[in-house]
Amino acid sequence: MSIDPAIVDDSAQRVPLRVPTHLGVIMDGNGRWATARGKRRTEGHIEGVKSLRNMVELCINYGVKYLTVFSFSSENWSRPREEVAFIFNLLRRFVASDLHKLIRNNVKVRIIGSRAGLEPSLVRLIDDVEAKTAGNTGLVLVVAFNYGAKAEIAEATRRIAREVAAGRLAVEAITEATIEAELYTAGLPDPDLIIRTSGEQRISNFLLWQAAYAELVFVDEHWPDFNEASFVRVLETFSQRDRRFGGLGAAQS
Ligand code: IPE
Ligand code: IPE
Ligand code: MG
Repeated sequence: MSIDPAIVDDSAQRVPLRVPTHLGVIMDGNGRWATARGKRRTEGHIEGVKSLRNMVELCINYGVKYLTVFSFSSENWSRPREEVAFIFNLLRRFVASDLHKLIRNNVKVRIIGSRAGLEPSLVRLIDDVEAKTAGNTGLVLVVAFNYGAKAEIAEATRRIAREVAAGRLAVEAITEATIEAELYTAGLPDPDLIIRTSGEQRISNFLLWQAAYAELVFVDEHWPDFNEASFVRVLETFSQRDRRFGGLGAAQS
C-alpha cells in the first residue's frame, strides 16, 4: 500500500523549533515505572537519575540556558523512611559520580530548597558542588531538593518582615522585585516551559511564584522513559504556543 504523501508530510504545519531559556521539569513517575516492571520503586529512582543525566546533555546540545529539576519535595518526607533515605543517598551518589563531568561540561550547579532538616554532611556536599562549579559559564543546573514553593514564599516573607520590623524597609517599598530577591531562585529568569512526566496534570508545589507565565506541558511517559524524541515533541508543542503575557500575542498584533 502506498502512503499518501500529504499525510506523511506535515511540514506545512511546522513552526521553527523554539528552545526555552529556562526549562523546569517535574520528574515524576519513577515509582510507577518500576512497579509496572515488577521492580522495587527504588530501581525507578536509579533509572530516573540516568534520565536526568540525559536531560542535562540534551539541554546543553539544544541551547537551554537554565534547567531546573524537581528531585525531592518538602512533601516527599511523608514517604516511607527507606525510600526517603534512598533518594538522599542517590543525590550523594550523583554528586560523587557526576561532579567531574559537570565541571568538564561547564555546568554551573545550584541547589535550591530548605537546608533546615538536612544532615550537616549533606549541606557541606551541596555547598561544595556549588562552589566547585560557581565559575562555570554554561548550562545552569538548578536542583530543587527538599524544595516546596509555599515554604519558599513563607521563608521570603519572614526575611522581608524582619527588615520591616528593624526599620530598614518601608512597607510601601515592597514590590515584586523585593519578593523575587528573597526567593531561592533570586537572579534566575522565570521558567518559560515546565514539563511534567507520568500523566499527572498538577504543579505539586513546584515554583509557584516563578511559574506565573510558564507554558505547561504534560506528557504521559514516566520519567525514566523520557528521551530525546520526547524532548523534541515537547519543544514542538512549546513552539506552537502563543505566549501572550496578558497582551494580544502574535496572532492579533
Ligand atoms: C518522582 O517519581 C521522584 C520523586 C518524587 C522523588 P515518584 O517517586 O513520584 O514516582 P511515582 O509518581 O510514585 O510513580
Ligand atoms: C512531585 O512529584 C515532586 C517531585 C517530582 C520531586 P510527587 O510524586 O511528589 O507529586 P504528587 O504527590 O503526585 O502530587
Ligand atoms: Mg510521583
